[in-house]
Amino acid sequence: MTQNSVRALDVVVMAAGKGTRMKSRRPKVLQDLAGQPLVQHVLGTAAKLHARSAVVITGHGADEVEKALTAREQGLDLRFVRQEPQLGTGHAVQQAVPVLADDGVVVVLSGDVPLTQAETLQALVSACDGDRLALLTLEMDDPTGYGRIVRSPSGSVHAIVEHKDANEAQRAIREIYSGIMAVPARLLKGWLARLDNRNAQNEYYLTDIVKFAVADGVQVVAHTIHDAVQVAGVNSPQQLAELERACQMRQAEALMAAGVRLKDPARFDVRGELACGQDVEIDVNCIFEGRVALGDGVRIGAHCVLANCTIAAGAVIHPFTHIDGEKPGVTVGEGALIGPFARLRPGAQLGAEVHIGNFVEVKNSTLAKGAKANHLAYLGDATVGERVNYGAGSITANYDRSE
Ligand code: UD1
Ligand code: CA
Repeated sequence: MTQNSVRALDVVVMAAGKGTRMKSRRPKVLQDLAGQPLVQHVLGTAAKLHARSAVVITGHGADEVEKALTAREQGLDLRFVRQEPQLGTGHAVQQAVPVLADDGVVVVLSGDVPLTQAETLQALVSACDGDRLALLTLEMDDPTGYGRIVRSPSGSVHAIVEHKDANEAQRAIREIYSGIMAVPARLLKGWLARLDNRNAQNEYYLTDIVKFAVADGVQVVAHTIHDAVQVAGVNSPQQLAELERACQMRQAEALMAAGVRLKDPARFDVRGELACGQDVEIDVNCIFEGRVALGDGVRIGAHCVLANCTIAAGAVIHPFTHIDGEKPGVTVGEGALIGPFARLRPGAQLGAEVHIGNFVEVKNSTLAKGAKANHLAYLGDATVGERVNYGAGSITANYDRSE
């Protein structure tokens, strides 16, 4: 291994843009994908890369973005810099210069491009190898709007020309710049200082650094991928929905590869973390939120919503059950039978072989092994012993008439 290839990584996340087409009050990078803000996915990828720091460039909705992310950074040294006004991607990265160390490799990402795989970025960083400019590129059937990768006759990358500045021959190029690069910090800083905005959009283009690299004799390499989802950005609710499905399909495939049986991976949603034992079966249209753990042999019927709960081995959750274990969570014991149409709320602790039937609500209650509430009941703040049979229409609650 060369010394270069072990350089520290610093991630720069551009997140100042407005996102007009979302037609939302919420900043674009805070729109939800699989239960997390878009930009949180990007930071998650940075964390997987073991980046030393992440610098998020904010502008539109800066206060809100900074507030949403502070508590949620994932073991990263997270910093914010502001870009006001927004004068282009080069101008955006210029704002990060004062907080970027000179000795690292910088990976430039966008807060609205959530599904890049850490392995892809790792390969890009390897291509950079500590002293080159590495660009993530891909071939597109319709490259309209993207920066084109212009190569010299020998095949080496020569420039990126933005669509609006490209001539007809350049517009015919189908290899595009994804918006993601890896570049040694020291070189990046020098090049950023040389940018100007003499172009069709009067913007400071980050992509102009390719010309400077070529002029300075620094090698420019392209790492080409074929999976467009990894570099797809979100500009509209339609694109957000497309990436939601792509993200869900990716999660479904990973679970199936681990042995989980999904009746239909296209009708399955995880908005958090789902851990499954062996021989877990999940019927259609179930949603999992927060942290959910399903033990060996658990079966989940159709149309269930499960949030923050632990379901022990062999338990069966029948259709249309809602388990909402916010804080504290919900636990369901081994071999328990829940639903259909059951509702388990925070603090429901159900022992082994407990039965909860239709239209039964359980909140902050402990049910010992084999206890049953099969029909139409409310169990609030109760401790129910082993094998107790809780009859239809029964209610327990902590209401003490003092309010
Ligand atoms: C950019 C690239 C283009 C590439 C495309 C891939 C430049 C000049 N062009 O295009 O070659 O094919 O991405 O999607 O870099 N942003 C800021 N501040 C700004 C401008 C943008 O933070 O002043 C952020 C945006 O919010 C967005 C990202 O940077 O997250 C990219 O900006 P966008 O306008 O989508 O990229 P383009 O300039 O169209
Ligand atoms: Ca732009």
